[in-house]
Amino acid sequence: MTRRWLNERKHEYYYLKAKHMDYRSRAAFKLLQIDERFRIFRPGDSVVDLGASPGGWSQVARELIGERGRIIGVDLVPIRPLDGVDTIVGDITSAETIKELLSRFGGKADVVISDMAPNIGGNYSTDHARSVHLCGFVLDVCDRLLKENGKMVMKVFMGDLFKQLKDHTELRFDKVSVYTPEATRKESSEVYVIGEGFHAREAPLRPLPPDEPVTKFRKRGELK
Ligand SMILES: C[S@@+](CC[C@H](N)C(=O)[O-])C[C@H]1O[C@@H](n2cnc3c(N)ncnc32)[C@H](O)[C@@H]1O
Repeated sequence: MTRRWLNERKHEYYYLKAKHMDYRSRAAFKLLQIDERFRIFRPGDSVVDLGASPGGWSQVARELIGERGRIIGVDLVPIRPLDGVDTIVGDITSAETIKELLSRFGGKADVVISDMAPNIGGNYSTDHARSVHLCGFVLDVCDRLLKENGKMVMKVFMGDLFKQLKDHTELRFDKVSVYTPEATRKESSEVYVIGEGFHAREAPLRPLPPDEPVTKFRKRGELK
């Protein structure tokens, strides 16, 4: 049995399991495994899900927070309606989307989760840099929206900027862990950063980005 064969079987296993359990993505199992390890969600929590489409993570969060909880999902592409999940179509790198999220949420969240991934262009360092860039916006959303002691989960592609991102995360959270759930493909460079015990910083908030998204690409692989 080659490693590739094993990986393909694992991929197929989670694909079939997701279909069977009515989850919209295999990624749902990553969040379930993260929650099993870190106990992210509690009944009644309010949750922001960034990069939520097609909705697998929102489904898992919804199950774990129960009827009393609330969740809002944001994505560049529309999220098919999901019971008990509010959605926003928008780019989290634009002020317009951030303002809409703040006004629609109308309070502070217990948990911010992000499975956002940039368009993969094929160049490892560019993809990594774009992923870290998106994570910067996840931390911004935490600064504006997360409760004291709140929790955060975000995906990032590993690379040489990772240490910097982790340092920025540690400025905000008492405990920061890096975790690769079993459901992640072995060849993937993605890891999940888990922040527990959020505390608002003394430093002023980073100014909102322009209304126009900053992650727009003129063509595949080219930053605007
Ligand atoms: C791996 S998918 C998320 C899968 C989701 N967690 C699930 O379980 O169904 C990554 C998502 O990030 C979204 N995304 C990427 N950049 C974004 C941005 N700047 N603003 C909002 N969403 C973004 C993509 O559109 C894509 O749907």
